[in-house]
Amino acid sequence: MVLNIVILAAGKGTRMHSDKPKVLHSLAGKSLLQHVVDSARTLNPAQIIVVYGHGGEMVPQALQGSKVKSVLQEPQLGTGHAVQQSLPFLDDSSVTLVLYGDVPLIQQGTLEKILTVQNTLSLLTQNLEDPKGYGRIVRDTEGRVRSIIEEKDATSEQRKIREINTGILAAPTSLLRKWLLKLRNENTQGEYYLTDIVAMAVAEGLKVNTVQVENAWEVAGINSKTQLAALERLWQGELAGRLLLQGVTLADPARVDIRGELTCERDVEIDVGCIFEGRVHLAKGVKVGAYSVVKNTNIAAYTQIAPYSHIDQAEIGEHCQIGPFARIRPGSKLHNEVHVGNFVEVKNSEIANQSKANHLSYIGDATIGQRVNIGAGTITCNYDGANKFRTVIEDDAFIGSDTQLVAPVTVGRGATIGAGSTITKDTPPGGLTLSRAKQLYVPGWQRPLKKK
Ligand code: UD1
Ligand code: MG
Repeated sequence: MVLNIVILAAGKGTRMHSDKPKVLHSLAGKSLLQHVVDSARTLNPAQIIVVYGHGGEMVPQALQGSKVKSVLQEPQLGTGHAVQQSLPFLDDSSVTLVLYGDVPLIQQGTLEKILTVQNTLSLLTQNLEDPKGYGRIVRDTEGRVRSIIEEKDATSEQRKIREINTGILAAPTSLLRKWLLKLRNENTQGEYYLTDIVAMAVAEGLKVNTVQVENAWEVAGINSKTQLAALERLWQGELAGRLLLQGVTLADPARVDIRGELTCERDVEIDVGCIFEGRVHLAKGVKVGAYSVVKNTNIAAYTQIAPYSHIDQAEIGEHCQIGPFARIRPGSKLHNEVHVGNFVEVKNSEIANQSKANHLSYIGDATIGQRVNIGAGTITCNYDGANKFRTVIEDDAFIGSDTQLVAPVTVGRGATIGAGSTITKDTPPGGLTLSRAKQLYVPGWQRPLKKK
């Protein structure tokens, strides 16, 4: 089957009270529309077409590079009119699936169910306790679908119907094209309703297929920040639940946020308030302390991250100890058993096995060997105001506290640097290098007195 997917995203989103088009607001770290595009992609469609309108070029711009075709709907005359805009690009031998850009959590399995019946119109429906606001599925006495009636056009009897139209549907493209060209806007809202194609299919003697959605959240639409916040919590709860089922220990499943893809091996423990962004992998036995933020990073087995650490685009080895209050910035690679303690910032640096920087340091553009000890307050001066330079510290070096290493500079293997030194030249291996004024004693020296 050739599949075309049309995503409707032209709506205004008035109730978001934002200059940003509704579908570009984010849920779990990516836009509503991107969620839908990603789900659509799992079905291997021949093409994905996004119908946009409000917010101008912001929507196509956001889709740049994602191999999605954008089609402008201007003005916006209803859902049927929106799908009409995509007709010139649809392939008649295909099946067309219509999705909504503001219904972000639709899942692959549900879409596959709709697509199993391919020779007729298929609708995704839902039974709701409170169907208010939705189009209702009208069935005959034998349970066959007759039509969809919008709430605003429905009789009070029809309004009692609990089965609603989620809006998501699929149909053979040639039929869809024929029906869409026949749409009229003679209804309460003066719009071209996509839902009117149901009665057309029935009039042609087709048996309309329906699929019931399993999880209500899959078809939850976003119209306001309140709904967005509620769906975010619901989805985070779902993601946390999946981690618990795999055996991850979460101190509180309601206090973890996953804005991307978090994968965990056995015996991982995550304390409260942690945020994971992008692709994060936590290997066996990793512990992440409270209020840590980890982004696009792999953390190898048994490493412990103490509270309030911030790690971004780094690679962390096994049995490391990070934090509390550590900041590891992009391009950093920590090998095994490395310690990075409080108020230590590491950027674009490699730190080999068993090296330690436990307190108050800046390590930027550095290559640090094994078993190196970096004393408190050590700074790599990597920047001259125009260019950046590297600091190399070879195996077994010991850097005394409050040392400034003015790059480019190399500290030789096994060298010791005296505390308080400013090192501007390469130091030989072994021995002691220091650059520090000699300590003086001035006997009988008096502190100045306040002038009267
Ligand atoms: C629509 C359905 C209704 C269903 C409900 C589910 C129709 C006529 N009604 O109603 O049966 O129960 O969704 O939420 O289809 N859009 C455009 N261009 C337009 C109009 C809408 O792209 O001209 C997009 C919107 O951005 C939105 C989607 O289509 O993503 C649905 O539009 P909306 O106005 O919310 O339709 P409803 O009246 O809620
Ligand atoms: Mg709606």
